[in-house]
Amino acid sequence: MEREAQSDCRVSRPEGNVAHTGTMNASRAQALYQSLFELMPGSVVLLNARGVVLDANPSFCRQIGYAREELLGRHVSVFSKDSRETIERNLARLLAGEVLEHVVSNIHKDGSLRHYELRETAIRLPDGARGILALSNDITRRVNAEQEKLELQRQFLHAEKLKSLGLMAGGIAHDFNNLLAVIVGNIEMASMELPHEPGARAMLREAVSAANRAAHLTRQMLAYSGRGHFVVTDVDLNETIRGTTELLNVTVSKKASLEFRLDDSLPLVKGDAAQLQQVVMNLVTNASEALADQPGLITVSTSLRECDSTFLSANRAGNSLNPGSYAVLEVSDTGCGMEESVQQQLFDPFFTTKFVGRGLGMSATLGVVRGHDGGILVSSRAGRGTTMTVLFPAGTVEFFKTPSAQKHEPAANKSPMPALTGTVLVVDDEAIMRSMIERVLKRTGLRVILATHGWEAVSLFQQHADEITFVLLDLSMPKLDGMKTLAELRRHRPEVKAVLTSGYNEASICQRSVQEGFVAFIPKPYQAGALIELARRICAGEL
Ligand SMILES: Nc1ncnc2c1ncn2[C@@H]1O[C@H](COP(=O)(O)OP(=O)(O)OP(=O)(O)O)[C@@H](O)[C@H]1O
Ligand SMILES: [Mg+2]
Repeated sequence: MEREAQSDCRVSRPEGNVAHTGTMNASRAQALYQSLFELMPGSVVLLNARGVVLDANPSFCRQIGYAREELLGRHVSVFSKDSRETIERNLARLLAGEVLEHVVSNIHKDGSLRHYELRETAIRLPDGARGILALSNDITRRVNAEQEKLELQRQFLHAEKLKSLGLMAGGIAHDFNNLLAVIVGNIEMASMELPHEPGARAMLREAVSAANRAAHLTRQMLAYSGRGHFVVTDVDLNETIRGTTELLNVTVSKKASLEFRLDDSLPLVKGDAAQLQQVVMNLVTNASEALADQPGLITVSTSLRECDSTFLSANRAGNSLNPGSYAVLEVSDTGCGMEESVQQQLFDPFFTTKFVGRGLGMSATLGVVRGHDGGILVSSRAGRGTTMTVLFPAGTVEFFKTPSAQKHEPAANKSPMPALTGTVLVVDDEAIMRSMIERVLKRTGLRVILATHGWEAVSLFQQHADEITFVLLDLSMPKLDGMKTLAELRRHRPEVKAVLTSGYNEASICQRSVQEGFVAFIPKPYQAGALIELARRICAGEL
């Protein structure tokens, strides 16, 4: 602590202007200044030429949290946030006759920052020495409000950025699904034509497996954008986890122990089993990567938990959750944990700290959690490990019946090619998609009519209405989309059978396709076998 011998002027007030008082005598003038000094709302601090506090009025003391006695005799650096050099420089300028007006920050006794608009000037003290008179207004509230506004703006921009990233990811995923459908479909057809070429077939298998990995990435992107394939059923979370065990065991590093603590009394949750599985996979993969080939423990547990609003306030999914019971999925690891800054960015799409990471796992998880009206909580310490807690409410998501096509196993490689008769009208604005579908369907013996857009489909349908067994309609087409095209076709033949297909596999499309009377919805990319099986069932009158 720095305390200097206080000059005897500290109890007197600056008297330079006392002449103004006219008829007032010196002691009455002093009493008046004393009252002004003590009662004025603004802050007044008197310093000597070296920056030592000679006096401070109650207003200043209150704002800065010190008693007057604690300040007297101490250098301004006790509370000023300015460096010693800045203080010295300012003192020199003041003593040279400058009047300084600036915004300064002081440190309150409790450590918090206070901001002031300050006007400083040099004066002559009663003992003739030179001093500094500092008058200031506390503008802390205003500065804090401005900073809060800036922070809100920053968060808003960040949210906007994520929203457009989501839209972009959804759009790219949609186009990729179209392209992948063509790639996978053609490879499958090619391998059917090459039955006795083991070398070539192995290469084609690798190509399909790479395309499947790409399809996995688009699934992650679609999940984040909230446009993922969404089939709601009553899901047993424990069963979902058990169904993934084999996959999890090959995913986690050899040195990690994977432990399951599944609560058998867990109620069913309304959700999409495939997406919930995706969440489990993403969380366990991250846990395993956090162990980085070191021995460690990964625990996957489920439980039923009553969550109050305090607990739910830590939800990172950005949605507000009602207090109540939740089915909880928890994945803990004893891995590297996360610094605060990593935790902040954890859910940003494409944020990764890994060399080969894509930064999609957690953002996809977030998309799925939001889509299920759930929540996610993160508890992590650098070097100590991480626990991710995912909450799913029961009964909040509407159940709807889903068309059955997408559930079918690819049949092409397993069952013999069915011999079908009939005509299919295929409507897709993408030429490569049309020719791939044509090739697949023709192999079954079906006749295929191609249309490049909805209106052409309507006119072709009019010409061949009696021959057409079913219509395969792409959803997103310019002018007349798949749904509207079906409405037009119905005007000519109300009982026409139609299958909807789309690279956007979101819940609403799937749901609407049922409402609009499509016999099935087949999400892209699909395997040739799935399309053939679908055609077989329609031709057999099963759909
Ligand atoms: N269990 C965990 N322990 C430590 N850090 C984690 C954990 N989970 C996520 N992280 C951090 O969050 C980042 C983002 O995770 P996310 O799963 O989204 O992407 P990724 O794992 O890097 O790549 P991808 O999942 O697309 O392969 C990771 O790079 C990592 O830094
Ligand atoms: Mg990951």
